[in-house]
Amino acid sequence: MAGRQKILVTRKLTDRVEASLAALFDATLNPEDRRYASADVIASAVGHDAILLCTSEPLDAFAIAALPESVKVIATLSVGTDHVDIAAAKARGIAVLNTPGVLTDATADVGLLLLLGAMRRAREWSELAVSGNWQGFNPTLLLGVQMTGRRLGILGMGRIGRAVAQRARAFGAEIHYHNRSRLAAGEEAGATYHAVADELLRASQLLVLSAPATDETRRFLNARRLVLLPRGAIVVNIARGDLVDDDALISALQSGHIAGAGLDVYNGEPLRIDRRYWTMSNVFMTPHIGSATIEARDGMGMIIVDGLVDLFAGRAPANRVV
Ligand code: DGY
Repeated sequence: MAGRQKILVTRKLTDRVEASLAALFDATLNPEDRRYASADVIASAVGHDAILLCTSEPLDAFAIAALPESVKVIATLSVGTDHVDIAAAKARGIAVLNTPGVLTDATADVGLLLLLGAMRRAREWSELAVSGNWQGFNPTLLLGVQMTGRRLGILGMGRIGRAVAQRARAFGAEIHYHNRSRLAAGEEAGATYHAVADELLRASQLLVLSAPATDETRRFLNARRLVLLPRGAIVVNIARGDLVDDDALISALQSGHIAGAGLDVYNGEPLRIDRRYWTMSNVFMTPHIGSATIEARDGMGMIIVDGLVDLFAGRAPANRVV
C-alpha cells in the first residue's frame, strides 16, 4: 500500500468503479453503504488524501474547516456541487472534482419522463390501472396534452438542457430557452433565445428547469413568475429543489393555473420534502433519479477515478471545479 493515495469513499459505488478505485488507490470503501453524517466524514477522513462523496454527504464551510490536514481533494459523484462549500474548499487549497458530461443523457431522459408523465397524467392513470376500478375506454376521462406543436421553455441550456431540447424536438416541441448567455447557432439548433427569464416564462406552455442551484436561481420559480406562465402550463424540475418556491407552486397546482408538474428534485429531500406533493394527483414524482442508470453511475465514478489519477500525477483534470 505504501505510496498509494488513500481515498475515503462514503457510499457503496458500482462494481466497476469500486474495482478501479481499489486497483489504483488505497481505497476505504463502504460495502455496507453505512450512512455518514458530516461528523463521520470528518472523523473517517483522518489520514486520507481524498474524499469521494455524494450529494448525500453535504459538507458546509464548518465541516470543510474541520477536515484533517491530509485531505487535498473532495470528489463528488454528481455534476451539481451545491452540497459542498466550494469557496471554503478553495480557501483551504482543497481541490474539488465533479462529474460533468457523463450523466447528461440519463438526466435528460428523466426530463422527458417527467414531462410526458405530467402531460399524460401518468400518476392518475397508473393509480387507476392498479386500483381494480378501471372501467375500460372512456372518451373524456383524464385527458392529457401532447407535446406536438407546444412551446417548451428550458431554463439553463447547458449540456442537460440541450439534451432535453434535442429529445423534445423529436416529439415536435418548439424550443425556447433562457441562459446566462446566448448559445452559438449550432448549439441553439433553431431554439428561440429569451435574454430575460420572464419572457421565457410568458412563452412556455411547458417549462423544464435545468439550471444549477446558485444564489441567482434560488426560488426562481416563485409566485410572481408562476403567473407569467400561460394557464395550463406544465412545470418540470430536474435541477434542484432550491429553484422552486414550494408554497407558490403548490397553490398554482391547486388553482389549476399550472396543470401539472413533474418533479425529480425537492427542497429538503429526501426526508423533509413538502408532503403536500404526496397527495396531489397532478404531480408526477420521482426521487432524484436523474443519474440512476448503470451507464451514468459507471461513467460518473470513472471520471472521478481519472480525475484523481490526473490530479495526483500533477496534471489538470478536466473535471476540476476549483
Ligand atoms: C447530480 O449529479 O448533480 C445529480 O443531481 C445527481 O445527484
